[in-house]
Amino acid sequence: MKNTDSVISFINKTPKSELHLHIEGSLEPELMFKLSKRNKIEIPFKSVDEIRSAYNFTNLDSFLKIYYEGSNVLITEEDFFDLTWEYILRCKNDNIVHTEIFFDPQSHTSRGINFSDIVNGIYKALTKANNEFRITSKIIMCFLRHLDEESCFAILKEAVNHKDKIIGVGLDSSEKGNPPKKFKRLFEEAIKEGFLTVAHAGEEGPPEYIWDSLNLLKVKRIDHGVQCLKDDKLVNNLKENNIPLTVCPLSNIKLRVFDKLENHNLKKMLDAGLRVMVNSDDPAYFGGYLNTNLIETSKALNLSLDEVKILIQNSFKSSFLDEKSKNFWLNKI
Ligand code: HPA
Ligand code: ZN
Repeated sequence: MKNTDSVISFINKTPKSELHLHIEGSLEPELMFKLSKRNKIEIPFKSVDEIRSAYNFTNLDSFLKIYYEGSNVLITEEDFFDLTWEYILRCKNDNIVHTEIFFDPQSHTSRGINFSDIVNGIYKALTKANNEFRITSKIIMCFLRHLDEESCFAILKEAVNHKDKIIGVGLDSSEKGNPPKKFKRLFEEAIKEGFLTVAHAGEEGPPEYIWDSLNLLKVKRIDHGVQCLKDDKLVNNLKENNIPLTVCPLSNIKLRVFDKLENHNLKKMLDAGLRVMVNSDDPAYFGGYLNTNLIETSKALNLSLDEVKILIQNSFKSSFLDEKSKNFWLNKI
């Protein structure tokens, strides 16, 4: 068996965890079409193929425009259930045994959707996933950083009523021009309420946004973080504190953070001793779920079996699972 074949076979059969997945980004064109009909919501596409061919992005903002438009078809609790259940079936297929998913409530409540319909739909599908497939999960609510502090405080208030289902809060959407310091007070309040914190930083934005996410937002993980290699002091800090970086290689190519997968800096991050792992981000938009991300990246960067193992181990180590569950899965790899 060739080395690449054994790596691919290892990826397919090993239990895995995913830590950076926007549930709205798992909305496949087929379901988007079906929901637009079910809810009588107009979308600017005549067919599933037309939707797919619109997915040519030049940067994060060009993607976000289409991503928020796509989310408009999500109306009822049942829609959020169906969306999440479809992702769970992909998890089962990819042998993902634990997943921590983001959702963007502000993109729905601004259209008059009830916060509880969103959370309950997602939560019911995740409960069914646990009952039927033993897949475990956590829910993380993201604030949209292009919106103001007031809107974010209002959504935090809603989340407080669902603490039993939401483990933490994150920060996503347009990074450039929306620095972490804009949300210092918000994250302080979220921490006071008992939420864990994470933030997208250093996807397109500068290393300074990673520093500020650590120092001002007190994050447990950095989402993306690929710009950290521009700052040696930051790399040392991330390493010393074992801060996980939830890297999403196919996303970075589609949004042109790197020109091609062969030039992605994931291997350099691994070589620097950073706690990195691979995730799919918005798989319906970026061309693949977790296994595709792992396989394509391993091929492009010529990763060894040991390096792939480290990526998968890092994902469990960096999860919000309890120590016993982490060790259970680490022993299986
Ligand atoms: N970055 C920022 N915001 C997002 C992303 C992303 O990769 N995906 C969905 N919202
Ligand atoms: Zn993301």
